[in-house]
Amino acid sequence: MGVDPARTERGGYGETLFEPWRPGEGERIDLGALAYDGATRRRLLAVGAGPGTRCLEIGAGTGTVARWLAEEAGVAEVLAVDRDVRFLEPHAGGALRTLAADVTAPGFDPDRPDLGRFDLVHARFVLMHVPEHRRLAAGLCEFLAPGGHLVLGDAVDLTSSAPPETPYRLAMRAMWRALRETIGTDVSRTPRYPRLLAELGLTDVGAEITVPPLTADSPITAFWLDTWRRSRPAMLATGLVTPDRLARAERALAEGTAADLSPGLITAWGRRG
Ligand SMILES: C[S@@+](CC[C@H](N)C(=O)[O-])C[C@H]1O[C@@H](n2cnc3c(N)ncnc32)[C@H](O)[C@@H]1O
Repeated sequence: MGVDPARTERGGYGETLFEPWRPGEGERIDLGALAYDGATRRRLLAVGAGPGTRCLEIGAGTGTVARWLAEEAGVAEVLAVDRDVRFLEPHAGGALRTLAADVTAPGFDPDRPDLGRFDLVHARFVLMHVPEHRRLAAGLCEFLAPGGHLVLGDAVDLTSSAPPETPYRLAMRAMWRALRETIGTDVSRTPRYPRLLAELGLTDVGAEITVPPLTADSPITAFWLDTWRRSRPAMLATGLVTPDRLARAERALAEGTAADLSPGLITAWGRRG
């Protein structure tokens, strides 16, 4: 069998898949945000986001969390960082600053003036796409002021490795494999985030999970359908799902008949002593 480029081409998030310049990519991120922003906002408020707080938003995407912090939670400042800031720049101003940077680059590590300065450092759906996630998490702790909170949110796959092997589960299994092979995404480690935060020396560690329902008209359903569409060649290249099964999975999702659980969001947090 020949080598399939979809299996071998590998780059970071936004390079081989989910490129920000592709039409509709901002809207896809917004669908995920619509599904999870409620839970994220509640947690950020609970760890103290509010007037006077200095916040660092890592991999800010379209900036729904960063904008909410600046405009509604009333924090003192938000530094929103992303490798590509095209969705963020139109919203810069006031309490919201943007920075184009690769957060895994060595230059993003210690010796920066921002070290030890932030009361809140938040990253959602970012570390899961970063192979060196532990080093990144350790680096993010360095940005915290004493008493500040690191909040990490990432996806958790609740169903796809277990029977029954419905088209929906096979499609999800193929998607996670495809993301792993093309980007290096790994959601199997997300449930260990509370332990990771404790090992990094943070205290008052906690974690929670949010699972939005897969109803026909929900944002999360539209999010997965668009995510499958964009990763379709890589999903099929895994050999875990056939075009026919994928079409059946898409139908079940679109019609709200998958009768299953969406991947969830685990949010874990800890405080720098
Ligand atoms: C799945 S999106 C999540 C966006 C946002 N955090 C949210 O939850 O809505 C991942 C974001 O992280 C950014 N990202 C991924 N790897 C990055 C890196 N190494 N450095 C900076 N940004 C990165 C991507 O550009 C993208 O905007």
